[in-house]
Amino acid sequence: MSSNGFNTKCVHSGDMEIKGIGNVVTPIFENSTFEFQKSGVPGDYIYSRWGNPTVESFEKKYAELENTKHSFAYSTGMAAITSSVMPFLHAGDSALCLNELYGQTLEFFSKVLPQYKIDIDFIGVEDLNKLEFKNKKYKALYIESITNPLLDVPDIIELARICREKGIKLIVDATFATPYNQNPVSLGADVVLHSGTKYISGHSDLLIGLSGFNDNYDDLDFYRKTFGGTPDAFQAFLAYRGLKTLGLRIERHNSNARKLAEVLHDSEKIETVYYPGLKDGEYYKVAENNLKGYGGMVSFKVKGGIENSHKLIENLTIPKYAVSLGGVESLISIPVEGTHRALTPEERKASGITDNLVRLSVGIEDSEDLVNDFENALAKI
Ligand SMILES: Cc1ncc(COP(=O)(O)O)c(C=O)c1O
Repeated sequence: MSSNGFNTKCVHSGDMEIKGIGNVVTPIFENSTFEFQKSGVPGDYIYSRWGNPTVESFEKKYAELENTKHSFAYSTGMAAITSSVMPFLHAGDSALCLNELYGQTLEFFSKVLPQYKIDIDFIGVEDLNKLEFKNKKYKALYIESITNPLLDVPDIIELARICREKGIKLIVDATFATPYNQNPVSLGADVVLHSGTKYISGHSDLLIGLSGFNDNYDDLDFYRKTFGGTPDAFQAFLAYRGLKTLGLRIERHNSNARKLAEVLHDSEKIETVYYPGLKDGEYYKVAENNLKGYGGMVSFKVKGGIENSHKLIENLTIPKYAVSLGGVESLISIPVEGTHRALTPEERKASGITDNLVRLSVGIEDSEDLVNDFENALAKI
């Protein structure tokens, strides 16, 4: 593993040098198949679902930033999640899962895994951080390290300690934190996952997923190949290019989000602000211990219900109303209309997702412009 700093690794790690060419950038190997060296003797690559040089270059760059020995890229974040969780759970097993997660991930745990006779219990972050699960027998614990959409922060350091003691595999989706703000495996988790669609690629122009881990989990390789969720070389190339600026982008996302969180926090039009870096927030202490920066996501509840949330959004000129997050541009959405629309009213209630909740992915625009835009729009509701 390189001892260089984060930005140097972003720029240089994992690059593939081809002898005699002098290429500065890893090329795009758009090959489904690779010729054997001679009859019966394959070269380093055989078939792109099993391995591709461009994809590997991206995986190596990410592994350096994540501080893990191994990493796999997937066609989407969901492919990374499903292909990385299934190997650890078998019929008759039980797993524990946060009750506040990306909607599709929640559905995977609540609707898909039980069909394979895998028993799933759900828990809130507050109870999780009180370690209220430690007397039960679970094979795996699945969490997001900054939850979607309420930005709660599980205490990975403490959870990992208990999980190691009990032989529970701790699997962490760290999409919102990014490897710049947090390396869950270095904090003790077994597997870290990302929707690389978000900050890692960073430009809202592709889908991709990633996992990182230190132990030799052969099943993860087997499930990836068998479920077939490998990315295409061009997709991996774009994400590899995006990774080069991850450090610079996240510094800006972190600082812009903090400024907007403070503006919203001080506004009388806003009921509650959710941002891990607010000192009076419920999870501030845990966030301080588990995160190097507090990320680019801010959620908030607008006084006066969903009508006023819409009014605010309509009066904003910079953020676009769209689901997804982590791109250079600011995006804003209402979870009950987008990311969490498939959840039942009971599931939403259990996760604290009310109609007036707004989720903001703060981009890298000039902070003065963003602050002015929000102050003007808040004045109009
Ligand atoms: C926290 C989180 N994990 C996973 C996913 C799924 O990723 P993808 O859309 O790349 O499949 C998302 C998507 O929004 C997400 O927000």
